[in-house]
Amino acid sequence: MALTPESASTTPLHNPSNFSAALGLPYLGDYPRTYTHEGGFPAGFVWGSGTAAYQIEGAWNEGGRGPSIWDDFSGAGGPAHEAMVKVGAIAGGGGNHSGAVACDHYHRYREDVQLMASLGLRHYRFSLSWPRILPNGTLAGGVNEEGAAFYDALIDALIAAKIEPFVTLYHWDLPSALQTAASPGWLSAGTVRHFEDFARLCFERWGGKVRRWVTFNEPWTFTAPGKPYADVRTGPYLAGHNVLLAHAAAVRAFRETAAASGGAIGITNNIDWREPLTAAPEDVAAAERAREWWLAWFCDPIWRGDYPPSMRASLGERLPTFTPSELESLQGLNHYGSSFVVAQPNGKHYGKHYGEGNGESYWRDYEALALHSEEMKEEAAASAWLYSVPWGLRKLLSWVKRRYGNPPLYVTENGWSTPGNDSASSAQVADGSRVRFLANYTSELRRAIYEDGVDVRGYYAWSLLDNFEWEMGYSERFGLVYTDYATQRRHPKASARWL
Ligand code: BGC
Repeated sequence: MALTPESASTTPLHNPSNFSAALGLPYLGDYPRTYTHEGGFPAGFVWGSGTAAYQIEGAWNEGGRGPSIWDDFSGAGGPAHEAMVKVGAIAGGGGNHSGAVACDHYHRYREDVQLMASLGLRHYRFSLSWPRILPNGTLAGGVNEEGAAFYDALIDALIAAKIEPFVTLYHWDLPSALQTAASPGWLSAGTVRHFEDFARLCFERWGGKVRRWVTFNEPWTFTAPGKPYADVRTGPYLAGHNVLLAHAAAVRAFRETAAASGGAIGITNNIDWREPLTAAPEDVAAAERAREWWLAWFCDPIWRGDYPPSMRASLGERLPTFTPSELESLQGLNHYGSSFVVAQPNGKHYGKHYGEGNGESYWRDYEALALHSEEMKEEAAASAWLYSVPWGLRKLLSWVKRRYGNPPLYVTENGWSTPGNDSASSAQVADGSRVRFLANYTSELRRAIYEDGVDVRGYYAWSLLDNFEWEMGYSERFGLVYTDYATQRRHPKASARWL
């Protein structure tokens, strides 16, 4: 393992007395390089794939849909777009791309459901577009019946095709009307109330047909890294707090509606695994701290009643007080890659992918620096942050089991990106690197279940279709199915057949 840390010069990790033994996690510093692909999964294990509304639907200004913050950011007519482009807020990769058309799924959902059926997909995770249902974000502003009818039709088509719908309420497309000076998005308690209303409306309308629900997709991703908070010292923690309160409110609403009978609700959190680079106590502590500041930030309040002690200790009054609720919900985990970590007290930055230079914010508080070994770099995806590290998934699952008493888990996203400019006739459709990624990660998932006893109930590969990859636009493809954006033809890749 060739490592290139700026600051690590201590004991190598290949040492049986390392941190893993202490934590009881698999792999004592010796990381596997090959994986076996044999053996089954428990009966009833759920295999699926997923998407998100803004990434695939398009039809941004049709059917009564209101604008979302992603229209504003990426330019589908939003007033903020020109300013964003000027300051370079839209990454080079994303260029002027937006989700205005995306995969045109809004118009092609019937064909897409047929495609899913033809691939043998039985479980499909997707998100509802809040501004399509409530164009200005509030019940008082009125329900857009046409938008709600789109989801009626989609859900009915899925059920008719014997595909189980798994619905995420919030996958980042906040109605623009809730992101204003007067109503600053997730910094505002009003957004919590409006989300509760939106959630209740969805449970009442679709609770009879949809059994599995997720409130939020990756709170960490849309609250912590690199956000332009007016007060960077408190912004991430207040936004995160409001999201947790909104989750709690939605779970309460769920229990009050018929959706609760036989249904289940949870939250999807995410983390890239954080492994200490060396056995030096400060690096071991930095890795645990990184996991707490990333994943436990959003899991501890739900399953342990308060924020992680390490956050309370260093943030003091900057961290809001949580009123513990009787929440008990499913845990979804999105997981892609892993890094080694070294301690970085008063860390200036974390890495160039997440807010480098944002020296006064969350990343400074986080105090850990992530690095990738040369071995990890041998399997690099098109996304700058993504390397294939299958053992990281197994370690993460074990860590969650130990910290939270083995709750039922779903891997709600796991996937691999290839370059956006390849054509359907090229290596894109013969996507060996994605097949290898999925095969190796599910191999480790299987070991987590059978050897480590983790209660994982399902796995959703990300993503069903190549789609709008947020700030990277169409420059990265995560799909099991190739999307030809010029013709909107879909071409299943080898990975779709493999799954
Ligand atoms: C998000 C997806 C995204 C994927 C790949 C996840 O964090 O939930 O929407 O496409 O990562 O970047």
